[in-house]
Amino acid sequence: MGATTVKINSEFNPNYLLSLVVPTYNEGKNIIPLIEALVEILDRVIADRYELIVVDDDSPDRTWEIAQSLQENYPQLQVLRRTEERGLATAVIRGWQAAQGEILGVIDGDLQHPPETLIDIYSAVSKGADLAVASRYIHGASVGSWSGIRQFLSRGAVSLALWILPEIASRLSDPMSGYFLVRRSAIVDCELSPIGYKILLEVMGRGQIDRVAEIPYTFLERQEGSSKVTWRQYEQFIRHLIRLRFATGRGSVGTIGRFLRFGIVGLSGVFVDFLVLWLASQMLGFSITAAKTDLGQLEIFISKIAAVEIAIINNFIWNDLWTFRDASIKQSGFKFRLLRFLRFNLACTIGALINISLFIGLVKLGMSLLLANLIAIVISTAWNYLINLKFNWRTS
Ligand code: GDD
Ligand code: MN
Repeated sequence: MGATTVKINSEFNPNYLLSLVVPTYNEGKNIIPLIEALVEILDRVIADRYELIVVDDDSPDRTWEIAQSLQENYPQLQVLRRTEERGLATAVIRGWQAAQGEILGVIDGDLQHPPETLIDIYSAVSKGADLAVASRYIHGASVGSWSGIRQFLSRGAVSLALWILPEIASRLSDPMSGYFLVRRSAIVDCELSPIGYKILLEVMGRGQIDRVAEIPYTFLERQEGSSKVTWRQYEQFIRHLIRLRFATGRGSVGTIGRFLRFGIVGLSGVFVDFLVLWLASQMLGFSITAAKTDLGQLEIFISKIAAVEIAIINNFIWNDLWTFRDASIKQSGFKFRLLRFLRFNLACTIGALINISLFIGLVKLGMSLLLANLIAIVISTAWNYLINLKFNWRTS
């Protein structure tokens, strides 16, 4: 799981219009009625020109074996039994890799997705949509009789997706749907790397999807077996959203957001600087509040340099992990990090020199200390920011 990326073959067999994947885990009681229903429906519209692919993760209830027993009567049925890999999203992709059809699709194996809806989904794609999704949240649809908590979690997941991936999730009323068809050509050239359950987000995020269609349906009650959703899936879902956001280049913060982060980090540096100076005064026995301190005292000079340097280290860490995260994850080795740190240090040192000389110069020109200091701080901060943006983290 995790980092594996997979590509979908661009070649297909023109005799096959549709390849529909049915991921299963312990669906022994559902698989026969589902396959029968799908065959009955698809035979009406595209008889002999489709295939069904059951991808089973070595279910303890031997779903794979039950599915295989159907193959005698249904030559259009393939059964993949996976023993190495697990997980819904990877099962779907593995199924698509084995698929021959021009249109690829997925339907749950537990009869919660009404098979009849497939006709409308299919016709939407054959009329030109790149992606057609069965939705529980458009007019005419329903989530069925869900408990309050499940409705809440489902809505919460949609809101989260909208928040983290607005451009992608807002194109669908039900971005969590696991019932959809997609044109093969729309996803051939992209690296799919699914984690967890939400293969549709992966397809939307990485595919070339221009036209989207939505078809209403009612999510049916599960009659047999049980849902495989656990808390782990929620955690994986969030990781998936964040990863997709970066992968699709939408992870970059806006210019204002980044500058704000830089400013916040800078403020934390001021705090660190004071803290170090105060700690040093406690240890070395000088006062930070006394008037007329003798600046020639070596321990004060060294303490101040240490305070600045530690503040720079602090700022570097937060800028690398937060302000410029999108750039630093692209060059993550220790060597690169060290190099960035050295450049940051140099830029900040020059920034400090600019700060001090501007301050002195403006005061000599007759400006008040307050105004001179403010201008010096603003300009040196802008310098630090721009130099690091352009030459260190190189975000654009
Ligand atoms: N091969 C394989 N491997 N199949 C799996 C696995 C797995 O690890 N986990 C679940 N499945 C299969 C189930 O057997 C079922 O056919 C289908 O995937 C959906 O799993 P459920 O556990 O029934 O999920 P659900 O009903 O809670 O979720 C449905 O709604 C979600 C939206 O809320 C599904 O339609 C999801 O795809 C959808 O995202
Ligand atoms: Mn289900």
